[in-house]
Amino acid sequence: MALIELKDVSKLYGFGDATTLALDEVSLTIEKGEFMAVMGPSGCGKSTLMNVIGLLDRPSHGEHRLEGKPVARLRPNQAAKIRRDKIGFIFQAYNLLPRLTALENVALPLAYKGVTLNRRLKMASEMLDRVGVQSREYFLPSQLSGGQTQSVAIARALVNNPKLIIADEPTGNLDSASSRLVMELLADIHKMGNTILFVTHNPELTRYATRVVYMHDGSIIHDEKTALGQVATTARKVLYTLPTTSEEDDLAGVSALMKALPSKNPTRAKRKPGAAKAKSKSTTRRKTKAPAKARSKK
Ligand SMILES: Nc1ncnc2c1ncn2[C@@H]1O[C@H](COP(=O)(O)OP(=O)(O)O)[C@@H](O)[C@H]1O
Ligand SMILES: [Mg+2]
Repeated sequence: MALIELKDVSKLYGFGDATTLALDEVSLTIEKGEFMAVMGPSGCGKSTLMNVIGLLDRPSHGEHRLEGKPVARLRPNQAAKIRRDKIGFIFQAYNLLPRLTALENVALPLAYKGVTLNRRLKMASEMLDRVGVQSREYFLPSQLSGGQTQSVAIARALVNNPKLIIADEPTGNLDSASSRLVMELLADIHKMGNTILFVTHNPELTRYATRVVYMHDGSIIHDEKTALGQVATTARKVLYTLPTTSEEDDLAGVSALMKALPSKNPTRAKRKPGAAKAKSKSTTRRKTKAPAKARSKK
């Protein structure tokens, strides 16, 4: 049984003229133990996909199963319980509570589980040790470097021992040395049998992944298995043609990446009529951000 199954999942935001189709009938199966990178330009739906998979957001349409159980229509408190027990989140902006120490931040998720205070602090301390920042236990987030802050956030995501870890641009605010540290941490967690999904703009980081999914305009346009330690084939096309040293270069890398990929997007692809791909369902769908009727009025 797959850990995660999405079938024709769509996510719409807003109403009427302002409707955004953030996910466009995405189907995706993720097995336990995968280490999956998600790439694609800004606004293509990466975070929405992570939020839906992590039960932070509900799909507008489609089926979503977690360990075989349907979870697309759960009530908020049911979703919260599953998140608490099974899923750890790591975000680009760290999301630590500024008035709590590193130790208290890490211990926080355990409070929701009813673990006693002493035990919570002990477990949090052990987790901070594991991510290499135990010496910063009593520091506030503002007193930590970016890399240390992200390590604390990772400790917090892991303290519940979740089987699924979702990291949305976990290295987005970090220099390359700290990025590597964070990815090595995630790699260790992966080795212990956990499933990890992460969003990145940096083709170099696909080295850590066993699978890379490329998104565009709310759709998955390419999905490749990749060997641990190697940059994914499609990502490599970009990496070695561009000197990616700064974040801006990484972003440039993403745009180049989209060009390197076979486009399956009907609004941009120059398809020949009757070409094999034109028959696929994903190319016949409308990809408008506003209903056609509304646009024709203008
Ligand atoms: N809460 C929201 N309300 C309205 N639109 C949203 C919301 N969240 C995301 N979007 C829109 O959905 C699309 C996908 O966003 P997102 O998943 O954040 O992209 P990415 O993470 O790839 O940059 C974007 O057009 C974005 O503006
Ligand atoms: Mg995002």
